[in-house]
Amino acid sequence: MSEHAHPSDHPAYPVGLRLAGRRVVVIGGGQVAQRRLPALIAAGADIVLVSPSATPSVEAMAASGEIHWERRRYVEGDLADAWYVLVATADTDANERVSAEAERSRIWCVRSDDASAATAWTPATGRSEGLTVAVLTGRDPRRSAAVRDAIVEGLRDGTITARHQRTRTPGVALVGGGPGDPDLITVRGRRLLAEADVVIADRLGPRDLLDELPPHVEVIDAAKIPYGRFMAQEAINNALIEHAKAGKAVVRLKGGDPFVFGRGMEEVEALAAEGIPCTVVPGISSSISVPGAAGIPVTHRGVAHEFTVVSGHVAPDDERSLVDWAALAQLRGTLVILMGVDKIGAIARTLIAGGRAPHTPVALIQEGTTAAQRRVDATLATVADAVTTEEVRPPAVIVIGEVVAVGPEATRAHHRD
Ligand SMILES: C[S@@+](CC[C@H](N)C(=O)[O-])C[C@H]1O[C@@H](n2cnc3c(N)ncnc32)[C@H](O)[C@@H]1O
Repeated sequence: MSEHAHPSDHPAYPVGLRLAGRRVVVIGGGQVAQRRLPALIAAGADIVLVSPSATPSVEAMAASGEIHWERRRYVEGDLADAWYVLVATADTDANERVSAEAERSRIWCVRSDDASAATAWTPATGRSEGLTVAVLTGRDPRRSAAVRDAIVEGLRDGTITARHQRTRTPGVALVGGGPGDPDLITVRGRRLLAEADVVIADRLGPRDLLDELPPHVEVIDAAKIPYGRFMAQEAINNALIEHAKAGKAVVRLKGGDPFVFGRGMEEVEALAAEGIPCTVVPGISSSISVPGAAGIPVTHRGVAHEFTVVSGHVAPDDERSLVDWAALAQLRGTLVILMGVDKIGAIARTLIAGGRAPHTPVALIQEGTTAAQRRVDATLATVADAVTTEEVRPPAVIVIGEVVAVGPEATRAHHRD
């Protein structure tokens, strides 16, 4: 070090330590250790914690074997064989002694109590899909954290697009877009959407996200793909295959979860038959989230220990129906019906005939999680009339069971008998 410069006048030199299998000594088992240990564990470090006490979370890390805990105070020599040291005790004197041993042994040492006395600083870090973001400002950890948050958030929501030059493979991502609110897509789904060349979207799901896509992205409405001599689904499969074969990054954006009445597996199979790689990204299904958005828990302690999700797109007496309505009528738990608005009269009659009480509460939630969300309450006996008088239209989720009546009374249109 030059005799003119104070160490803190210089910026820190950033580096990525590869700690796998290397000894890291942590002195002090409090909140600081609790915050730092998970990243050290994730890095594969051989961690020795020296501390007479530890927080319950740190104790759990020791109990599970992720760290080795020496339950005692620091003594000179504890840093032998260490590559890196983290000092985080409430005892300044102990911190100084550890620091001095680290300095003598040429071991990089982070100090939680005095950054200016430390030989290393922990950056504010975050991870997103294989990228590590590390931000150092030296003396302003809050600013580092704020910059880190902005970068990670941008990577996750796709406003900072860092295309995977080495790992990005053309193919299709089958993305569950959630029930409609654009905030309810997964982080991964949103990132893949931001990286797409072509997006084939359904009518349901977070349509607002499509407006945010850059102009070069081709957005195709699945409902409008001309299907000529094919079935509509075959035409969608063909469009996916064609764009993927042209080397495009294709996102198939679906409402809710791709595998809940979403025909997702048919698309996966069609792509597999052509040898096209396909990633499936789960989504928040309307079957749980739409009731939740309307204040209805699908289970509730002491009320319902089960919920069953059923498609109501064919009537109970239709020979194509695969649903055992008589068995469902015997359940006491929650029934969630998707695609059931048109057939709810026949469904309610069948459930009552099978033994479900006519006064069982029912709620219909139309366009859940969107600005147009509305909820209509009824009973099994009145639901058919309620759908007509309230002009309930698809898409709607129908919830049947006592859970409809729990929770604070919201603004509901009641049709009780
Ligand atoms: C073909 S299914 C697809 C379900 C989707 N894969 C899921 O997991 O939510 C379509 C049905 O889902 C329900 N649905 C989807 N989004 C909805 C929303 N935002 N509000 C109400 N119902 C919705 C309706 O019952 C609609 O008829």
